[in-house]
Parts: sequence; structure tokens; C-alpha cells
Amino acid sequence: MEKKIKIFDTTLRDGEQAPGASLSDQEKLEVAQQLVRLGVDIIEAGFPISSPGDFDSVRQIARQVKGATICGLARSLNKDIEAAAMALKPAKRKRIHVFLATSKIHMKYKLKKAESEILKIAEAAVKYAGKFTDDIQFSPEDASRTEKDFLFRVIEKVIKAGATTVNIPDTVGFAQPDEFGRLIHDICNKVSNINKAIIAVHCHNDLGLAVANSLAAIKNGAGQIECTINGIGERAGNAALEEIVLSLITRKDHFKNMHCGIKTKEIYKTSRLVSKLTGFVVAPNKAIVGGNAFRHESGIHQDGVLKKRQTYEIISPETVGFYGEGLVMGKHSGRHALSNRLERLGFKLNKKQLDIAFSRFKDLADKKKEVFEEDLIAIVEEQSKEFEQVWSLEALEFFGGINVQPKATVKLKNKKAVFSATSEGDGPVDACYKAIEKIIKLKAGLLDYSIQAVTRGKDALGEVNVKLLINKEEISGRGASTDIIEASAKAYLNAVNRVLFKKEKSKKVRL
Ligand code: KIV
Ligand code: ZN
Repeated sequence: MEKKIKIFDTTLRDGEQAPGASLSDQEKLEVAQQLVRLGVDIIEAGFPISSPGDFDSVRQIARQVKGATICGLARSLNKDIEAAAMALKPAKRKRIHVFLATSKIHMKYKLKKAESEILKIAEAAVKYAGKFTDDIQFSPEDASRTEKDFLFRVIEKVIKAGATTVNIPDTVGFAQPDEFGRLIHDICNKVSNINKAIIAVHCHNDLGLAVANSLAAIKNGAGQIECTINGIGERAGNAALEEIVLSLITRKDHFKNMHCGIKTKEIYKTSRLVSKLTGFVVAPNKAIVGGNAFRHESGIHQDGVLKKRQTYEIISPETVGFYGEGLVMGKHSGRHALSNRLERLGFKLNKKQLDIAFSRFKDLADKKKEVFEEDLIAIVEEQSKEFEQVWSLEALEFFGGINVQPKATVKLKNKKAVFSATSEGDGPVDACYKAIEKIIKLKAGLLDYSIQAVTRGKDALGEVNVKLLINKEEISGRGASTDIIEASAKAYLNAVNRVLFKKEKSKKVRL
């Protein structure tokens, strides 16, 4: 019999805890809907007690997202559990995820509690969560650094109290694959009632071992893996969903009789979406979804691939929904062709969205000889921002050169009017950002700026990513255009628009 490995995605909770990654409610909803298309079993939508904004977004996801269990995180406190239960109420399938630290260092310094108290609190919290749902997950935080015998007692207790999943976190990414595998093996053998619950694992990547540890856990009896898209999360992040899934599939000979419900063709698109919304650029060498993951540069490799793809390619790009830089259309291509191609790429647009995409495509095809699938993805992704824009770019002029003072004039539009400002700067981008600041009257520090070509060639779309510091908060933005100054202005405005949409994040309680 095949064993199903459940995929628990925590991009919207642990992933969103990464500094600078905060998403608006609308963006979280968009990610949750895509996670359903991807086929994840459980979506951890947030930590409802942490802020009114988090509560609302979990509730909105619980109300609108069908096809996966929706989960909310709670400390082992009644008020947290009540908030999670309230936020999850509209969900058809809901899970409350309760956690409490069990390692000596956390109990002594953070919680200032003895083992006996921890046991009681954990048991009471799980029982209390049981008043709201039958699907209860308990996590002994910092489990990999917890005394084993105590960990077994905690697990036994919470299962007796009603936990249906026990999640073993490697909270600080400290474990090594063989010892983490052994821990799961021991839990399977030493916890008397373990057959009544599913063992999950939640691995952090501080030593770069999150995926290896998760896979070792699967080999030793874990039935659920917690992970995030692109591996984003606290500090060095969490185990990357795409890497775990592709290991299970590519090495079916190793992971015998195991499967998961992920629709791998949605992986690339999901990765792009999360990268775009969080502003976290995926490194070119990132496994599975990095820009170089399917590129063969060396002559020997190229020759091998041409003769037989599998000589140097263990995964076909199409498996993860990456269709490369296939030339798709030129300026004479019609609306219908665009709509078909976008559908193949996984984008179903309504009439209004298709109108906008088509007019953008025509503009681009006028500027660029060849339009690639990657360009189309950038066009559609750009468009999804339109619905949240407070400020949009109406016009931009800049002037500069060697030994010339750069100067930019920017026209921005909001709901009320069009505003214009001119500024000088250290370069055209700086001048443009200063002109924008004059209009929007928000002071923003530029923490990070990067630019990359979406496809190859001199006329490629340039994609700019920025990280700004606004009101002491890091916020990212992205913009694309064949003109890099315009892409820079769009990225800046994208970040500004996010800030203007954000809800009371300053009140957020971080874990
Ligand atoms: O890393 C961790 O321990 C967590 C828990 C809340 C599961 O994120
Ligand atoms: Zn975590």
C-alpha cells in the first residue's frame, strides 16, 4: 500500500515571518489560492492572535479558500486558541496548531517553567483546542534539542489529550539528518500511543539541512512535512516544498511506496508568485526553481543533453511547469493566441484582465522583436498589482550622462489627480526616486536594489527588485519594463503601495 505524505505549507505563517516578507491580505489570499492549485494538503494561513491584520487574513482565507485544510497557529494559551478558532470558523476543514517549547534552554530561560508545568499546560491547551475542532496539531517547540525521554512523555500526553498530529520542529536548524531520522524512529518506537497520530516535521535551514532532515524523517516514519515555497522563513528559512517533493518523485526508487498530492506543473508558477509578492529573489542556482536549474552551460554537458537529455538532466523542466524561453509570439499575434498561451502557463484571466494583458503584450511586442513566455508571465504578474495601487506611474522623463547632473521628472496618479515633480540625484534612478518622494511625501530608505533580465537579449524586459525602509519597516517591491529606469520607478511604487495597504503590522507579536 502506498503511503501518502501530507504536505503542510507554512509560507503564509513561518514564511511570512521572514524580515521584509510581509504580504497584504489580498496577496495572502492569492498565494493561498495558488497553494490549492498546487495541491497542498494543509495551508497554515497565519497566527491569528498576533495582530488584527493576521486575524483578518486567516479569516478571509478560511472563508474563501476551498480544497485544503486551513490551519491557524496558537501558543498554548486559551486566548490564542480562541482567536485561532474564531478566525478559522468559516473553513470547511480547519486545524488548530498549538505549540509550546520543551527544550531545557527554552523552558528555563524563555518560559521559566518546570517539566511538570509544561506537561500540564500542553495537555490543557490541546484539550481546550478540542472544544473547537477535532483536527489538532501540537508542536513541542525546539524538539530536536529536547531531552528525549521528556519529549516522548509530552507527545504521549498530547495525543491522549486529543492531538491528531504531533509536529517535531527542528526550530533552530540544529539537527543532523542521521540523528533527526533516529529521533523520528525512536518516537515511532517509544511513544506507546503514536499510532493514534501522524508525525510531522518542521525543519529550519540554519545549517542548510532542512530538506535533508525532512527527508530523513520521511524515511523514518514521518507522514507530514512542513515546508514553504522557495524555502522562505525565519532566519535561513524552512525546508523548501519544491525540493522535498521533487526528491520524493525523482527518487521513487529510494522513497518506495510513498507519494504526495502535489501537482508539480504548478511549482514554477507558485515559486514566481511567492518571489514576486515577497520581493525575495530566487537565487539562480536554487534547486528546482532557480533560473539556472535547467540551463546547461558547459559544451560537454550541452553535447550530452542534445544526444540524450537524461545524461545531465534528472528532472525535465516541464515537470515543474518551466517551459524555458520558448519563443511564443510576435506583434501580429492575436488576443486568442495570447489567451491560449496564458492558459497553458496556468493563468486564467477574466475579460478585463485579458484586455489589459493584451494591450501590454502589444506594447511590449512593439518594443521587443521576440516575446517569450517569461515575458508573458512578467506582464500578467505586473497586472495583478493594478488592483492594489494607490499611486501609479503616469509618465517619466530623465536626463543624464557622463559629467552631467542627472535629473528626472515624474508624473504620478492617484484616485484624485495627477501630480508632477522634478529632482536631481546621484544617478537617474536616484533622481527618479527623489522626485517620487516629493510627490508621495513618504521618506523611504533604499536598503537593497537589484536588477535582472527576464529573458536574454539586449531588448529583454528588466526586472527590478527593491527593499525599502519605510516607518522603520522593511518592505519590498518589484517592477518590470524594457526600460530599466521605468522598471526601477515601478518597483519603488510597488513597495510604497504595499505600505499604504498594510494593516497595523506594528502591533504584530513575533514568535
Ligand atoms: O520553528 C518552529 O518551531 C515553529 C513552531 C511554531 C512550529 O515555527
Ligand atoms: Zn518555524
